[in-house]
Amino acid sequence: MKLSTALHLYSVPWTQLDWPLNRKALFGFDGPLDVEIGFGNGAFLADLAQASSDRQFVGIERSLGSLQRLFARLKENGIENVRVIQADASFAFDSLFAPGDVARLFVNFPDPWPKERHHSRRLIQPAFVDLVSRRLTPDGELMIGTDHADYAEWIIEVLEGQSKLASKHGTTYVSDIPGRKPTKYEQKAREIGSKIHFFEWTNATATTEPGRSERIEDMPNVLLEGSYEPDTLLKNANLETATLKHCGVTVVLKPGHIYREEPGGHLMVEMMVREDAFSQHFGVSVILRSPQKVLVKLSPIGYPRPTWGVKEAVRLVADALVERSAMQVASSTLPPQATAVES
Ligand SMILES: C[S@@+](CC[C@H](N)C(=O)[O-])C[C@H]1O[C@@H](n2cnc3c(N)ncnc32)[C@H](O)[C@@H]1O
Repeated sequence: MKLSTALHLYSVPWTQLDWPLNRKALFGFDGPLDVEIGFGNGAFLADLAQASSDRQFVGIERSLGSLQRLFARLKENGIENVRVIQADASFAFDSLFAPGDVARLFVNFPDPWPKERHHSRRLIQPAFVDLVSRRLTPDGELMIGTDHADYAEWIIEVLEGQSKLASKHGTTYVSDIPGRKPTKYEQKAREIGSKIHFFEWTNATATTEPGRSERIEDMPNVLLEGSYEPDTLLKNANLETATLKHCGVTVVLKPGHIYREEPGGHLMVEMMVREDAFSQHFGVSVILRSPQKVLVKLSPIGYPRPTWGVKEAVRLVADALVERSAMQVASSTLPPQATAVES
């Protein structure tokens, strides 16, 4: 199957859709949702999906090679209840699913990041487990498997140090799950006799997190009115990096170059916005509409998704213009002012 056809069939164009995802529209039916993070060769996910055609399955994976291996299995076996999100797992898991929406989350043999200085890159962290408890249904399940002894110790500490999830077993982990089909990494670990730790933990609390939604149509713009000097607008302005917090996500806004079309013409401010692991590089346009009107809006250059951070980047430029001129905000499509500014 051509890659373009497979992407079209199975891959979710998540940057172009409203968040949380409309699962019924994506799958064409309603049903419980199971998610696998880091599905590797896709065999585990494809087998699960084939065994339960009434459930929805979403795989989150960074590697295109892994996506292609899964696509081949889905095509070969006529499996239609799997959708794939190519993204970094924690950002996608947070943004794309509603609170209390995920019945089961599988994390099979996550990258162990063995060096101490890389431990912060490990997926299983206290904040991630907290997020999992908020995305799982009240009796939803988290399953993690690892053959890495040090990572297993780390996971034990993380799980035992929280109270939102509780082990399904009398013990923190088990060394076997009867009836489970092994993944590729699991098989490799068994062949060399490594001990495997399986963690099966259920959600012990119902989520109280309010739902949030983000619509792709909500393009940010701010209309400013008042007198200004076209030639000196933002001239020599050194816009500073801002770090904000939104729904537990660290959002960094980093302004770059300011481009001027011609003396006295429109401007474009280069912007980098990072929301956890999701980075976007785009422009904020400053359109000189008339001697008394300036429109600040998202430029289509860089195809930005209008996330919360992107809207704050538009606000940052509009605020800089207001500070440096006699203009005021006449109208705005931005959400209410951000409050939690870190630095
Ligand atoms: C060690 S492999 C395990 C593959 C498979 N689960 C198995 O057991 O055979 C880890 C997989 O997770 C993916 N991965 C690692 N970190 C990820 C992240 N933060 N977001 C999405 N995928 C990730 C990697 O690309 C890789 O395919």
